[in-house]
Amino acid sequence: MSGIFISFEGPDGAGKTTALNKLMPLLQKKTDQEIVLSREPGGSPISEKIRKIILDIHDEEMDPRTEALLYAAARRQHLIDVILPTLEANKIMLSDRFVDSSIAYQGGGRQIGTKEVAEINDFAIDGHLPDLTIYFDVSPSIGLSRIKKDHEGAMDRLEKEAISFHDRVYESYEEIVAQNPTRIKKINAEQTPDKVVQDALEVITNRFPNIFNKGE
Ligand SMILES: Nc1ncnc2c1ncn2[C@@H]1O[C@H](COP(=O)(O)OP(=O)(O)OP(=O)(O)O)[C@@H](O)[C@H]1O
Ligand SMILES: [Mg+2]
Repeated sequence: MSGIFISFEGPDGAGKTTALNKLMPLLQKKTDQEIVLSREPGGSPISEKIRKIILDIHDEEMDPRTEALLYAAARRQHLIDVILPTLEANKIMLSDRFVDSSIAYQGGGRQIGTKEVAEINDFAIDGHLPDLTIYFDVSPSIGLSRIKKDHEGAMDRLEKEAISFHDRVYESYEEIVAQNPTRIKKINAEQTPDKVVQDALEVITNRFPNIFNKGE
């Protein structure tokens, strides 16, 4: 496996998708290796079908463990269909969310337990952790106020959860970041969008100087 795999993590409204869209062309200018952008849950046809079930606001009666298993199943298929072929082709894989999201949202937010959720995900990802994870640090209140402004009335099933749920997600993310100081780098996502992109760019190019070596 010769490509590199970078995931982007953080609470709802942290600015991951916004930053990734700006980051992708900036990174591409700095390398000859092709960059592939994907997202979770989803990212491949079967995984996108599972995504629809997970995020459907009508699925209110979904059991937390069912939800965790569906996320892990969608992740497995995304890994097989997109991530591994991308890495085998020596390309650069950027994923908007990956395994840490499940540990934070289902393990912490849904209170299944971070250890339990990590275990079913170990089965799903079979050792294929990202080489680098950028964690977008934003307080739950700021993150939620950003997405409420965007789509009031059209929030998905997880976004609609109470603030206590999002507080638990945030706390779990903090633990995951503390436990994985080498893989996960935290950036301050409460800064301006441009500064967030700049910080993410710096972390990535500093970590892989031999890959992002074009331009100044
Ligand atoms: N640094 C920032 N400062 C202020 N607003 C921001 C910033 N970054 C993104 N936003 C705005 O916040 C909203 C949410 O951003 P975005 O969708 O990128 O977050 P996300 O992390 O992808 O959220 P989700 O996990 O829900 O997909 C958007 O309206 C976006 O324009
Ligand atoms: Mg997003």
